[in-house]
Amino acid sequence: MADKGLRFLVLHGPNLNMTGFREPDVYGRKPLTEIDDDIREAAQALGAEVRILQSNSEGALIDTIHEHRSWADGIVINPGGLTHYSISLRDALVSVRLPVVEVHLSNVHAREEFRRHSVIAPISVGQIVGLGPYGYVIALQALENLIRDTLS
Ligand code: DQA
Repeated sequence: MADKGLRFLVLHGPNLNMTGFREPDVYGRKPLTEIDDDIREAAQALGAEVRILQSNSEGALIDTIHEHRSWADGIVINPGGLTHYSISLRDALVSVRLPVVEVHLSNVHAREEFRRHSVIAPISVGQIVGLGPYGYVIALQALENLIRDTLS
């Protein structure tokens, strides 16, 4: 078990396909394709497999979570605007019983009041905010550590 490469599902929610173009002062100038390259590189450095999906559809995100119930060891998710209200997304994450790390490019706690509330945070092992795309790399490293600790 200890030598098995871990498998991570990384999900980007609505509008994150526009990263690099949309509000660059808030979300940065790096396009999502390049962020995904960094995520793949970080997974490779950990000896892990990674699958990445961006969707603007809540249903597609939920279906993907369900489909990866047996495949994934952990989930990294930036739920975009769904963070703040999607009980269905939260329920899907709970249903698969996998460790979840929530990531936000921006510091949601330093922005509008409605962005400070996350329905995902209480069911996540942790939340990484405001560190830009590097947050995904930290999230993968954190999950790797957590899962290895649990297995040992
Ligand atoms: C975001 C923050 C959300 O409030 C917003 O709706 C997004 C992006 C972030 O990565 O900072 O779409 O999740």
